[in-house]
Amino acid sequence: MAGTDVMHAFAALAAHREELAPRRIVDIFRDDPQRFARFHVALDDILFDYSKHRLTEASLAHLVSLARAAGVEERRAALFAGEPVNTTEHRPALHMALRNLSGKPMVAEGRDVMPEVLAERQKMEAFAEAVRTGRIRSASGAPFTDIVNFGIGGSDLGPAMAARALAPFVADRLTLHFVANVDGADLGDTVKRLPLETTLFIVCSKSFTTIETMTNAQTARTLVASRLGEAAVAENFCAVSTQLDKIAAFGIKSDRIFGFWDWVGGRYSIWSSIGLSLAIGIGTEKFEKFLLGGQDIDTHFTEAPLERNVPVLMALLGIWYRNVWGYATHAVIPYDQRMARFPAYLQQLEMESNGKSVALSERPVEEATAPIVFGEPGTNGQHAFFQLLHQGTEIVPVDFLVAVQPSGADPMHHRILFANCLAQSQALMRGLSHEEVVASLTAQGMSGEAIEALAAHKVFAGNRPSSTFLYKRLSPRVLGQLIALYEHKVFVQGVIWDINSFDQWGVELGKELATQLAPIVSDPTRSTDGLDSSTAGLIAAARKHQKG
Ligand code: F6P
Repeated sequence: MAGTDVMHAFAALAAHREELAPRRIVDIFRDDPQRFARFHVALDDILFDYSKHRLTEASLAHLVSLARAAGVEERRAALFAGEPVNTTEHRPALHMALRNLSGKPMVAEGRDVMPEVLAERQKMEAFAEAVRTGRIRSASGAPFTDIVNFGIGGSDLGPAMAARALAPFVADRLTLHFVANVDGADLGDTVKRLPLETTLFIVCSKSFTTIETMTNAQTARTLVASRLGEAAVAENFCAVSTQLDKIAAFGIKSDRIFGFWDWVGGRYSIWSSIGLSLAIGIGTEKFEKFLLGGQDIDTHFTEAPLERNVPVLMALLGIWYRNVWGYATHAVIPYDQRMARFPAYLQQLEMESNGKSVALSERPVEEATAPIVFGEPGTNGQHAFFQLLHQGTEIVPVDFLVAVQPSGADPMHHRILFANCLAQSQALMRGLSHEEVVASLTAQGMSGEAIEALAAHKVFAGNRPSSTFLYKRLSPRVLGQLIALYEHKVFVQGVIWDINSFDQWGVELGKELATQLAPIVSDPTRSTDGLDSSTAGLIAAARKHQKG
């Protein structure tokens, strides 16, 4: 059960909500001309604006009290001290060590892990640089032109998202591809476009057993061996995993095997050798800038007071809406086409980490946990689901992300993009009243009855909250900072909800059932007895079609 202090803090927040409810965000702005100055934090090249929220100094004080009551500071210290915060797997969660460029030790399970982290990073970076510059060549003797990353979940989303975000930094002569789905269309459509002779395949899997990744890698291996000869496998494949012994059987040379550690969760592994494809693409200097961005946020997270601590503020805003106002979703809208995969990346980070209903004490959680996270780049989303954000019955708090300077994109386009981003957060907050609608329709020459028929449909309630992350430019360092901000946000929320943010047992059952069903699906003579009638009926229908 949550501690009494936490229960009191939630009760105080609920009472405070009642007081605040009649006040609209625009009223709060009107009453406080200094609101923006007080409700934003500038962090290097990122400005976090959290002024457009249903929030006052008093609300923040209540939320910070909740964080203190939940032990955020103590648990943060335990996280960075390498204590086994992943309690069900008895491991630390020390991904911060992977981006520790400070020269200071970091301890996991009583041991300084930095010497092995640095050695592994050096090995991976030397390989990445040699591939990038063409010193390490493909089986054909020509430099690699294409890099294919096989991986899924954390072994895909991080590098795939980052490679797209940092596309302007990727060497022109290299093309990066990401194949995740076991659907053969993913691999097939990618391979069709590939010069196989000069393609480097990276098999990324923490466990080296994930069916999707292993299936894709095996199919590609067979293809390479049949088209280019068995010897080409050793030249055109490399692998990243924590299970080094399992890789050898695949026929990968030992100097092309890159490791990481159990204390790195899959969804936190972009900072490890799982980032190999990214490091090859953008080069190791830029890759280290990316790591530095992560480290910047670790320093900020551990040193800034809770009241000015961006990941803590992000987490508290999420708690405020999820638990006190009852909002079940959260949208992330990058006004940055290159960040198109960022919402998907955050879906795994937030929903796999905090989509839990059991507390550390093994009891059911007391409060609702992770919201449903979704998003698409702006302005595209505006022409799809923003109708609901503005006029739907569900209130969806939004994170907007936007760059001040475009990276290698037309500045005129960027001005339109930027204006749209500002306009959306403004529209969500201000809304449009019945009087304003009537005045506008009257000005358009519409008559009384026609106005009445239309006006209600054109009203926007407004008062809908959003944060804005304004960054100078989408550089490797800024991307590293953004990712780490969300990582620590997720951690703080996990502490307040009293859950383990570092395991993911909820993905296991589906995997087991798929393993049981695979032989039945593959062999039409196998009995479906014992299956529920829906599953059996679907298999029977599929068999009928297959026969046809
Ligand atoms: O589906 C769950 C999961 O374990 C994720 O947490 C992980 O990122 C993904 O599968 C891939 O796992 P692996 O890197 O071991 O192949």
